Amino acid sequence: MPTVLVRNGRIVTASEGYEADLYVDGGRIALIGQGLSLPADTVLDASGCLVLPGGIDVHTHLDMPAGEATSADDFETGTRAAAFGGTTTIVDFATPEPGESLLSALETWRGKADGKAAIDYGFHMALRGLGETTLAEMARLTRDEGVTSFKLYLAYPGVLQVDDASFFRVLLGARECGALTLVHAENGGVIDVLVKGALARGETAPRYHALTRPPETEAEATVRAISMATLAGAPLYVVHLSCAAALAHLTAARDRGLPVFAETCPQYLFLSIADYDRPGFEGARYVMSPPLRETADQEALWGGLARGDLQVVATDHCPFTLDDKERGRHDFSKIPNGAPGIETRMMLLWDGGVRTGRIDAQRFVELAAAGPARLLGLWPRKGTIAVGSDADLVIWDPERETRLSAETLHMRVDYSPYEGRTVRGGPVVVMSRGEVIVDHGEWKGRAGRGQFLKRRHAQPA
Ligand code: URP
Ligand code: ZN
Repeated sequence: MPTVLVRNGRIVTASEGYEADLYVDGGRIALIGQGLSLPADTVLDASGCLVLPGGIDVHTHLDMPAGEATSADDFETGTRAAAFGGTTTIVDFATPEPGESLLSALETWRGKADGKAAIDYGFHMALRGLGETTLAEMARLTRDEGVTSFKLYLAYPGVLQVDDASFFRVLLGARECGALTLVHAENGGVIDVLVKGALARGETAPRYHALTRPPETEAEATVRAISMATLAGAPLYVVHLSCAAALAHLTAARDRGLPVFAETCPQYLFLSIADYDRPGFEGARYVMSPPLRETADQEALWGGLARGDLQVVATDHCPFTLDDKERGRHDFSKIPNGAPGIETRMMLLWDGGVRTGRIDAQRFVELAAAGPARLLGLWPRKGTIAVGSDADLVIWDPERETRLSAETLHMRVDYSPYEGRTVRGGPVVVMSRGEVIVDHGEWKGRAGRGQFLKRRHAQPA
């Protein structure tokens, strides 16, 4: 395997920032030091740039069926787009068909990624409920297969929503086998009533998607999930937390010392409920669950990221084409839920977080790479720059300007929620296990080079 020398950069991890060179051998970081002069197959000059650990996005939905549609990026296009944005590892969701065993679902989803993924990847397992074999399969997946996190939905009744008893039993089972329970926290029953009421009144436009999923429905499900995790004595990770009301419950629980964690996503930091009122049917582009919130919620989330109440920024990348979104032209509840974001996460977080002074560069690394690695069992192989860690590295130019547009981004979808926005700070070279896969905007990677990651148990900080 070729050796690489990265010279003259400033290394930034979640805990440090210092000038040093890096030597990569066998796909791993072999040496870190000042003024290294070793013969190498490739020498990269990182002058004026930062050298960061590759980003880790722990919430993606590639090649995911959703009703009659399928998310537009598969493991080839989605992981390539991720790399263009500085992300070198993803953790996607394997979702069983109704009645399908968890082990069979894992095989299916590994089959989707195998031969296609260009960066390393792992899987969480989504649960549709509690079958006869679920708890035993959870133990087996955790012990033998490197799938150490399980996601339950408190929303989407009749499709994915689980009842409280099943949720509680999964929490107990997860505690038993040392796995982490992830929760989509929205009260699906209440939302269902609100949606039916809106449709009965003829309120069919995209804005009613947000109005029928108010913050209270998320806050209630969040505090319920936290209460059940506390009763079970199990850790909990709340996915895509979107609003101040839910964050307040999380913060209160963490202040009590409870092992509860959460991610938010760029869409909740940069977009708002006003986007649903864009002209025509444009609001459909922003239909996702939870929905976009008020600008006051954005500020609360930034505070949570800075203080440490929120540990991760992930994307919930789940793109649907404009054609797919058309399915809900006359009924917002038929618009496939989800939006693209796998490529833009780190650029947005840098521009809106570091450049504005809301977070510093180390906190940026913590939220985009180190925190996700620790919580989801990838640390220290991923998420840091240390001797022995995978050489998943990003040479990051803090001044690089990018105009975000569907035309130039690499995700396989015909719109960007951030169309026309210019961000400063972005990746110039991206390396995965010592291989340069993106070089100044040019694709050097290869479909199928990504490896399945058997994850370990979470190591919450
Ligand atoms: O709207 C969303 N979030 N779509 C993806 C599926 C999910 O709920 O995470
Ligand atoms: Zn999701």
